[in-house]
Amino acid sequence: MKKRDLLTLRDFSREEILALLQDSILLKKLRNAGAKYLNLLSGKTVAMIFEKPSTRTRASFTVAAYELGAFPVSYSSNELQLARGEPVKDVARVLSRYHDLIAARVYRHEDLEELARYSSVPVVNLLSDKYHPLQSLADYMTILEKKGKIDGVKITFVGDGTDNVLNSLIIAGVKLGAKITVASPRDYMPREDLVGKEYLSKIQVTEDPYEAVKDADVIYTDVFVSMGQEKEKEARLKAFLPRYQVNSELLKHVGREDFIVMHCLPAHRGEEITDEVVESKNSVVFDQAENRLHTSKAVLLHLLYPEWTKYLGKQP
Ligand code: CP
Ligand code: NVA
Repeated sequence: MKKRDLLTLRDFSREEILALLQDSILLKKLRNAGAKYLNLLSGKTVAMIFEKPSTRTRASFTVAAYELGAFPVSYSSNELQLARGEPVKDVARVLSRYHDLIAARVYRHEDLEELARYSSVPVVNLLSDKYHPLQSLADYMTILEKKGKIDGVKITFVGDGTDNVLNSLIIAGVKLGAKITVASPRDYMPREDLVGKEYLSKIQVTEDPYEAVKDADVIYTDVFVSMGQEKEKEARLKAFLPRYQVNSELLKHVGREDFIVMHCLPAHRGEEITDEVVESKNSVVFDQAENRLHTSKAVLLHLLYPEWTKYLGKQP
């Protein structure tokens, strides 16, 4: 069987994404009912390579692998020979002789593509400069839980329109029927070369955050300065602040009470969002973070043991 990678959700159909979300919900139910350790991936080892810092992704993927019976190994890229110039294509061929899956967080998405091209085992994107597909799965699982549906739900993203988390949110959202609006400064609008014409043409884009949040079910934001963009910090903060901050004043313009506020975390309080909003009753950021665990399990099973639901008697 040909191996399957998860580099971007562009490569996954609407049905596959929905199946991953259903599996995630089932895995969460099982875990909450005490079935924490499922042992379905016993004997397998999973490699994680990190070129950048991570809290949620590293922890959730590690625990997900462990609770499914696999052995997770985390490598910091500066402890690998990559730091001394070993080519990605060699690392791919070596690690795939030992491990059953390789996951990586990289600066350049092209490195992930090279890793996948040369690896004989599935490769998973743990965040690149362009995409963060695992984050989107947790995001849509959370929206499904909180709003009961995804189709027709209005999601307004305020902030950096070129953000990796947003690119994946757009791709998955369009596939799932969400109504996405992005409010960004002119120089940071969503980009066709990142999300693709077929997705970009199905979202609303504006420079006006007040107009954009009107009647939204979900308000989403992410940092103004992503990892790897540190040199642009001054210019970015100047472009985004104060207009594109998610704060109580902006949220008054939603015009309804039942909206939720989402953020992939870590949040830079005082920049893209205020402490007050992160801590408010509308904020679901910690449920969203928890769902990184359940969705990572669904991905691991999908790539390493797709027939797992057979053992439950019937499909969820
Ligand atoms: N949301 C997310 O990916 O967080 P980390 O950078 O902590 O992994
Ligand atoms: N856009 C952020 C997401 C962190 C999870 C970054 O790439 O730094």
